[in-house]
Amino acid sequence: MSALELPPIPARALPVSAEAPGKCIVFGEHAVVHGAPELLFALDLSVQVIVRPSGAVSLNTDREGTERNPYFRSALARSWSDGPPVAVRAVSRIPKSAGLGSSAAFVAALSAALSAARGGIDRPALAQRAFETERGAQGVGSPGDTSAVVGGGFLSINGGSGEVLWTVRGPDREWEVRRVPDPGWLWVVAHSGIPRSTGTAVRAVGERLARSDGPRLLEEFTRVARDGIRAVEQGDRPRVAELIGRNQELLREVGVSHPRLEALISAAAPAAEAAKLTGAGAGGSIVALPVPGKEVELVRRLARAGGLPFVVRPSATGVRLIEP
Ligand code: PMV
Repeated sequence: MSALELPPIPARALPVSAEAPGKCIVFGEHAVVHGAPELLFALDLSVQVIVRPSGAVSLNTDREGTERNPYFRSALARSWSDGPPVAVRAVSRIPKSAGLGSSAAFVAALSAALSAARGGIDRPALAQRAFETERGAQGVGSPGDTSAVVGGGFLSINGGSGEVLWTVRGPDREWEVRRVPDPGWLWVVAHSGIPRSTGTAVRAVGERLARSDGPRLLEEFTRVARDGIRAVEQGDRPRVAELIGRNQELLREVGVSHPRLEALISAAAPAAEAAKLTGAGAGGSIVALPVPGKEVELVRRLARAGGLPFVVRPSATGVRLIEP
């Protein structure tokens, strides 16, 4: 599929409503910030926003929204500069600070709605804008999450053999985003219930990778994600499972696992072909590839181990306007 086949966000007058999916990273989180490949998919859990004209700016009726929410502030600054005041309502089915892309989805849905009211925007430009908006709020990060929620489906960053959908430019590097065919598997995600900050985890890994064995680790992350993307493209499930395990070892080595995540991964083992943390780690969630037919057993095991598990499917569509 080429970027041209992904429908642009059309022009609409306010009020405008938009919906964006969350995301789940299969390979390459953290290393992607440093230019290594990543594989992720848009989730079938979403955030909805509605933007209305108003006498004062607010987020979910909070007039201090721009003070309190850096993502809201960043989105208004980049997609609504000098615009008249708007009241924004946001409803999310994605757990917050769980590594499942709630901030990327909020940023993409809000940027799409505001851009629609400013005459519309095509997907590559929205992917760039959503990245700058999220990074503006977090200070660090890659365009993986925002591209996944703008593009939908399975995507690779800096890897894979598909056609380039778009290139996202950061202050010191660029990332190429490609479509990867969905292998059609079910995935199980479980939230540990432990919130954490993406920015803090990303900075800690950056420091870890600046040590003398950093280049070796980054090479290893690159190899695992590159081979993992190829294995997903080929539908080679045993190889995907093996590489998920290897990716988790590397994430443990750079210090972003957590005893609660390790407990969930162990609890999953009898019913999962593989499991690893997903997202920034240090809390947040794990993703597991269930043994086919053992999805329900896997969910039960993860719940008994204290997680909040759910079966997820990739969402084929990325952010979109909700037509009245
Ligand atoms: O935990 P999340 O949803 O914020 O995912 C972060 C993924 C990282 O690779 C750790 C950071 C990034 O911007 O790519």
